[in-house]
Amino acid sequence: MITVVGNLKGGAGKSTVAFNLAVWLARHGERVTTYDLDPQRTLTDVADVRSEEGYTPLFSLHYGGTELIDDIKEKSGEVIVDVGTANMDALKGALTIADRIVIPVPPSQADVWSTQRFLSIVNKITSAENLPEILVFVNRADTHQAIRESDEAEEALAELEGIHLIRSRLCQRTAYRRSFSEGLGVFERKPSSKASKEFIKFVTILYPDVG
Ligand SMILES: Nc1ncnc2c1ncn2[C@@H]1O[C@H](COP(=O)(O)OP(=O)(O)OP(=O)(O)O)[C@@H](O)[C@H]1O
Ligand SMILES: [Mg+2]
Repeated sequence: MITVVGNLKGGAGKSTVAFNLAVWLARHGERVTTYDLDPQRTLTDVADVRSEEGYTPLFSLHYGGTELIDDIKEKSGEVIVDVGTANMDALKGALTIADRIVIPVPPSQADVWSTQRFLSIVNKITSAENLPEILVFVNRADTHQAIRESDEAEEALAELEGIHLIRSRLCQRTAYRRSFSEGLGVFERKPSSKASKEFIKFVTILYPDVG
């Protein structure tokens, strides 16, 4: 299955989510191939750190642009694609072959608006008979109950048509940054942490048949 992690806004957590998904799938014995279509090469960098540190399992990674789209389409096993707006052609190419698109959305009005724009791009370039499943979730949610922004963002996202809202949020936690900088999945570094538990809950919704 080809899962593209995307949206238009920078810093939403695409690469963080793509990396953690790839590591989790690899740890569950899946054959995982990742594609980094963003010239920032964040996914490439974290995969390099993981390999240099000697952590296993590793997953295969290809970096490039539109020339990879046919290759992605033919790939069997689990495929994770990280995209960015710096290469819009590659981003659009990936959307046209995606089985599903996973969209992390930070809890702000600007991010909700930009998600709407992203969805209109998806609708424009995907054909009705080959529509990918679109899964939206709040990433970087505030951990303080008193702050309602995450609830408000989630409710705004729930109004959007043609998407499935995953109501299992990932919170804004240093554990995501720390584990990423070390080349580890958030659930590997400290399995009993809140971040680990929430990520596992999230990923088992995305991949109910794995694990
Ligand atoms: N749930 C989270 N909690 C804390 N920090 C997070 C979380 N998700 C992402 N981050 C941090 O936010 C920053 C941006 O994340 P990331 O690089 O994954 O986003 P991106 O959408 O891939 O960005 P870009 O558009 O630049 O490619 C990174 O420093 C990352 O560690
Ligand atoms: Mg990125």
